[in-house]
Amino acid sequence: MTASEAIDQSMGANPAYRVTFICSGNICRSPMGEVILKALVDDTVYADRVVVDSAGLGSWHVGDGADPRTVRVLAKHGYDASGHIVQQFKPHWLTERDLILAADRGHLRELTRLAKNRPDEARVDYIRSIDPAAVRAGTLEVDDPWYGSMADFERTFAEVEASCRGLVAQLPDLLA
Ligand code: 4NP
Repeated sequence: MTASEAIDQSMGANPAYRVTFICSGNICRSPMGEVILKALVDDTVYADRVVVDSAGLGSWHVGDGADPRTVRVLAKHGYDASGHIVQQFKPHWLTERDLILAADRGHLRELTRLAKNRPDEARVDYIRSIDPAAVRAGTLEVDDPWYGSMADFERTFAEVEASCRGLVAQLPDLLA
C-alpha cells in the first residue's frame, strides 16, 4: 500500500498528522520532502503519528521513479528515494491532509484555487514556510532544479531538508 492509500484508509480512524508535499512533476522537489520528512520523523517518538506523501500537479511523469539526480543527491546525504513512484495530486486531498506544502508560488496559487473553502485553503502553504530561517529571510520558494545542474539539486536538497527539520521541531506542538 502506498502512503497515499494509507492516508485514504486512515480517514475517520484515529487520525495521524498528514503532510503532503507538492511540486510540478513529483520527480525532484516534492519527493525530497516526502523522503526526508519520513526519515526524520521515523527517528522520533512521533513515527507512527505522522503520514507523509507527495504528488505533482502535472501528470507527465506518473508511474515513473524520481529523477536520478534527486535519488543521487538524497543518497549522498543518507536518504533513500529509490522506491519513489510518481503520482498526481487529487483535489480531494485538500480536505484529507493537515498540511499541504507547495514548492513555489505557481503550486500555491493552483492549490488555493482548487480549495473550496477557507479551512482547506488554510492547510496550504509553502514548503519553506516551516523553515523559520527562510521565513525570516522572506525566501519561501523552492525553485525548480529540473533544468539545472547537480549544484541546483544540492541547493534544493538543503532548502527542503531545512524545512523538514523545521517541521520536526514543531511536532511536539502540532501533535500535543
Ligand atoms: P519537480 O520538477 O516539480 O520538482 O518534480 C519538475 C519535473 C518535471 C517537470 C517540471 C518540473 N516537467 O515539466 O516535466
